Amino acid sequence: MEQIKLSKKEFDLFKAYIYEHIGISLSDQKIYLVQARLAKRVKQLSLDNFSEYYTLLVNDTTGVELEYLSSLISTNVTSFFREGKQWEFWKNNLSAMMEKKNNKLRIWSAACSTGEEPYSIAMFLAENAPTMDVKILATDVSPRVLKLASLGTYNEKSVATLGATYLSKYFIKGKNEKGHHFTINEQLKKSILFRGFNLVTGNYNLFKEKKFDIIFCRNVMIYFDKPTQAALVEKFYHMLHKDGYLFIGSSEALTDMKTGFKSRSASIYQKV
Ligand SMILES: C[S@@+](CC[C@H](N)C(=O)[O-])C[C@H]1O[C@@H](n2cnc3c(N)ncnc32)[C@H](O)[C@@H]1O
Repeated sequence: MEQIKLSKKEFDLFKAYIYEHIGISLSDQKIYLVQARLAKRVKQLSLDNFSEYYTLLVNDTTGVELEYLSSLISTNVTSFFREGKQWEFWKNNLSAMMEKKNNKLRIWSAACSTGEEPYSIAMFLAENAPTMDVKILATDVSPRVLKLASLGTYNEKSVATLGATYLSKYFIKGKNEKGHHFTINEQLKKSILFRGFNLVTGNYNLFKEKKFDIIFCRNVMIYFDKPTQAALVEKFYHMLHKDGYLFIGSSEALTDMKTGFKSRSASIYQKV
């Protein structure tokens, strides 16, 4: 079947829509990528061309199509204990970080994808600070990944890097026709609240009363342009307690940004 073509005019419409609603800024070179990714959806919906899809998208008030679009444009790739050096840093600095915290830790995993990040945080703290009162807010723009995250069921490949102790302590093993699967136990799930939140267009007033000790925002800012990144980092700064930490992805940095954060280690910043 012949591939339908995305015209430059159509690309510009999607580009503006994606920037406004998801915060991802696409360069003009991405026209072929967008064509390839959206063509599948156009076909699936039995539409004739990209303009019809654009009309459907802008008229969809349920947000379902926007979520679908964002899953086509960005990636949900994640893993347990991703960015190994950050966990080492946290372990080495944990006692100092816990001081003056009144035995309470409030953490936000912003862009949590399918849940491996917030569950890693919960397991890490259950191991290293078991008496701490821990609450983790885990958010993402995509309802699809959030649903998987709250189910907390992973295949053997996803949990392969976790040791046997972690598997027996924090997971329940099951089996179906596809093989073994591992589900996070209820005790660990209890410390995490999963919610939908768009980091770019979301209403930050919802957080007015909330302050965090640590914010994880890893491997998502890379999709945003500099002004969007800077605006987001500024918001994070205000949402952290004094001395709080911001963990970002290892391919991201706050260089060239005027912020009150001090760099503490690669991709780890502290509000001073
Ligand atoms: C590559 S994953 C990163 C997951 C995890 N933080 C990690 O580092 O492993 C990027 C996630 O960002 C989410 N995302 C993309 N744009 C977003 C936005 N504007 N607001 C909130 N989440 C967004 C995607 O749905 C995806 O789950």
